[in-house]
Amino acid sequence: MGVLTNFFNPQSVAVIGASSSPGKIGHAILKNVIESGYAGKILPVNPREDEILGLKAYPDIKAVPGRVEMAVISVPAAGVLKVAGECGRAGVKNLVVITAGFKEVGKEGLDMEKELLATCREYGMHMLGPNCLGMIDTHMRINTSFAKVYPLKGNIAFFSQSGAMQVALLDWSLTAGIGFSKVVSLGNKADLSEIDFIEEAAEDPYTRVILCYIEDVANGERFLQAVSRATRKKPVVILKSGTSQAGAQAASSHTGALAGSDIAYETAFKQCGVIRVKTMTELFDLATAFSKCALPAGDKVAIVSNSGGPGIIATDNVETHRLRMARFNKDTLEVLRGGLPPESGIYNPVDVLGDARADRYRFALEKVCADSNTDVLMLLLSQTATTQAMETGRALIEMKETYPDKTFFASFMGGDALKEGVNLLAESGIPCYTFPEPAISAISQMVKYRQFINSPLQEDGLEFPDVDKKAVKAIFYDVLKDNRLVLLGSEAAEVARAYGIPAAPVALATTTDEAVEEAEKIGYPVVLKVASPKILHKTDVGGVKVSLDSPAAVKNGFLEIMESVRRLMPQAVVYGVEVNKMMPRGTELIIGMSRDIQFGPMIACGLGGIYVNLFKDVSFRLARGLTRDEIVKMITETKSYSLLRGYRGSEPQDVNAVVDAVGRVARLALDFQEITELDVNPVFVYPNGLSALDVKITISMS
Ligand code: COA
Repeated sequence: MGVLTNFFNPQSVAVIGASSSPGKIGHAILKNVIESGYAGKILPVNPREDEILGLKAYPDIKAVPGRVEMAVISVPAAGVLKVAGECGRAGVKNLVVITAGFKEVGKEGLDMEKELLATCREYGMHMLGPNCLGMIDTHMRINTSFAKVYPLKGNIAFFSQSGAMQVALLDWSLTAGIGFSKVVSLGNKADLSEIDFIEEAAEDPYTRVILCYIEDVANGERFLQAVSRATRKKPVVILKSGTSQAGAQAASSHTGALAGSDIAYETAFKQCGVIRVKTMTELFDLATAFSKCALPAGDKVAIVSNSGGPGIIATDNVETHRLRMARFNKDTLEVLRGGLPPESGIYNPVDVLGDARADRYRFALEKVCADSNTDVLMLLLSQTATTQAMETGRALIEMKETYPDKTFFASFMGGDALKEGVNLLAESGIPCYTFPEPAISAISQMVKYRQFINSPLQEDGLEFPDVDKKAVKAIFYDVLKDNRLVLLGSEAAEVARAYGIPAAPVALATTTDEAVEEAEKIGYPVVLKVASPKILHKTDVGGVKVSLDSPAAVKNGFLEIMESVRRLMPQAVVYGVEVNKMMPRGTELIIGMSRDIQFGPMIACGLGGIYVNLFKDVSFRLARGLTRDEIVKMITETKSYSLLRGYRGSEPQDVNAVVDAVGRVARLALDFQEITELDVNPVFVYPNGLSALDVKITISMS
């Protein structure tokens, strides 16, 4: 039982703004509550009526005898605050505020919404909305919405930030034979959000799959925690639209430029096991699959088709989705060869030919299901003059009953002529699609989901006892005292070293003599780089000189850098020149961090050097909840991993050192909220260890 169980199962419901005028929302809601078969008390509230739809009406909530558990508010916006206050005082525990005209209309509405939320908090009320369509629970038999359609009872919970999309889909679901357990219109999410409902549905015995349409996430940190738990129990499929500009960072760093706000969502969803879809069609294709059949035992697909082309297309799709075609046992092949016409294809995909009637299909299905290599059976059927859609459907249903450990899908390619067969399969719990592609895609998501729930839960592995927080604090303090937000390279390198990230030696020089002195200390050859918080991309302004191996070369380099920078960026404040030890070349990586407004620090790792933005070979993870295993996965996702492993005869590099450095960057970002952006680029990785050549850190005032 979740915390919101009473929300879906209240003992009494008041409809405030109930109306006897058909056509008004308050009328539709009351009618829906009555017609849903709701078993509790229904209490219409209207100041002018004594009776509505045959029920006694009350002038206000105070006049209602006994305690009311839920109030659905459908009065004009100007009256909502007063009504909500009255509900609070009357001991109502749950509000569903249908009324529009809150934060979605601007500042005034936002202020009113804040007051409404404060009222809810004051009286300990949960609130759905405002600006929502209401909620439906087909198992508790309650419908507080003004949707025209009451859905079929089923096992899909659907939570949507768009009411319009919800009503359209409810309507469609009736024809598609899809049933729902709970349907909630989230509205403005002032109090209850998708997080609360996902948590609740994960515990709900009537829900098998959770679907969401959202435009944003209410609270990134809570979302990650709650949804990570929910996805271990049930599949959570999310369609997220829109890319929030608020989440986009001012992209002064490489990592910031690579990571748009959508990458944060993509990464967050991936990390907490959400199945993300990009279209409404995909959302419902997957819902159909997850709601109807059990998860496949494995990834081996057998296809039985009466046409060659679609069989090949389905086979291609199996490969694209990284599933496997089942390789039948010898015995299976022999029996198929003996029982099917000689022109048939007996290898997977099995082609029973265009003239196949149901008995030939049944024969092939039986043999293929009996084969121990088949995990999933996919039946393809195109309508020809001899096709028997109903009988073939029945044969497939028989197989489902005989082989309960296998998973069954179908694609009936055609129109009205196949309708009866399609309906028969829908009723029998076999997902049937018009074309094979969505079926294969759904199978692949189900296989991935099974792998996900079977994978062990990982502990947060980002503890580094040797980090020196005090040293970092002191550096940030000095930088802010100097009225800067961007650290000089030497300061950033010190921060990195304090967190155990091996940064190459670097020192600041303000004159040619100082530069020579530092070079002598560090040892030749050295690299000189302009030191200016305003210049982030130093090469572009002639601010870098490499391979300087004598005092004269250092002097010249210093002067040339100063001259070039003054010419190309005359307005930039220049602190001097940084003298860096020239490190031997290694495999060049970037490790970076940008901060997302919802999900916090996001860590990037991939191909480094000057081609970062050109090749964009970078993989991302959120620092929160990051584990060592996840860092390893992150690195292996990039093409640069091939370079690290040793490409075309080159020596393998120290991947463990990279994993360690990525973890330490994540730890640093989690420990210091004030770091807004961080780039370590390039990192030279060697067969033993690595060296951070250039560390850039930007901080904020807080
Ligand atoms: N207590 C009880 N009843 C009240 C009341 C109060 N404080 N104030 C008004 N009412 C009654 C009215 O008398 C009326 O009843 P009547 O038909 O018997 O006269 C009823 O509540 C509705 O009020 P009315 O002024 O007729 O408003 P309305 O029905 O035209 O509009 C809303 C009310 C809430 C529907 C409208 O303001 C609104 O927000 N519409 C958009 C809803 C929406 O789209 N939500 C998002 C969906 S995704």
